[in-house]
Amino acid sequence: MEFMTPDRAGSPFAGTIRRYQPGDEAAIARIYRSAIHELACADYTREQCEAWSGRGTNPDGWRERCERKRPLVNEVEGRVAGFMELDPDGHIDCTFVDPVYAGKGVMSALMEAVKAEAGGLGVDRLHAEVSITALPFFKRHGFTVLRENLVNIRGVELTNFIMECWLREPPAAGQRTDAIAL
Ligand SMILES: CC(C)(COP(=O)(O)OP(=O)(O)OC[C@H]1O[C@@H](n2cnc3c(N)ncnc32)[C@H](O)[C@@H]1OP(=O)(O)O)[C@@H](O)C(=O)NCCC(=O)NCCS
Repeated sequence: MEFMTPDRAGSPFAGTIRRYQPGDEAAIARIYRSAIHELACADYTREQCEAWSGRGTNPDGWRERCERKRPLVNEVEGRVAGFMELDPDGHIDCTFVDPVYAGKGVMSALMEAVKAEAGGLGVDRLHAEVSITALPFFKRHGFTVLRENLVNIRGVELTNFIMECWLREPPAAGQRTDAIAL
């Protein structure tokens, strides 16, 4: 899947959306850590960033996770520039860009691809636990906040937001069922 989008300078900027391939794990692990420590660090303390990124230091763990989650990646200039995980129930899990490519539309292209994939899977509703840093990005892509959320990672508390985005007409107020995960 090819896409073209202008960067902040207005010059052409190309990337390719593709499925994760074995061998991508090292880039994905590096992006996970650097996105937290170079981008999310604007909104979270060093202690919070260490706790958050500490979950992703084991290469074997990333290989196993990637085989299981099969994320979509956006490849730019021959390297993985960002990745996004979609679970079959519409849950968007990891969403991280290489800081070198931040603000260039890399993740917007991935979000469009994930929405298309979700639609193809018959998913009605996307949902995610969204960091403070990613809140404007998800809002821009049609997500709304359901509630603020407090997570505890190895004794360190972090605030994020439970958000959702309907891919079809949402149910009327009062008609939501327990089947909808919050
Ligand atoms: C949130 C995150 C994934 C966004 O990735 P990104 O690739 O920078 O996102 P995009 O470039 O597609 O869009 C982000 C911004 O760039 C703008 N943008 C999008 N396409 C653009 C383009 N072609 N040219 C210029 N700007 C563009 C968007 O309008 C948006 O602007 P905003 O700051 O006013 O909201 C990234 O910041 C990140 O990894 N953050 C740290 C980790 C994190 O918190 N992850 C989420 C966990 S829930």
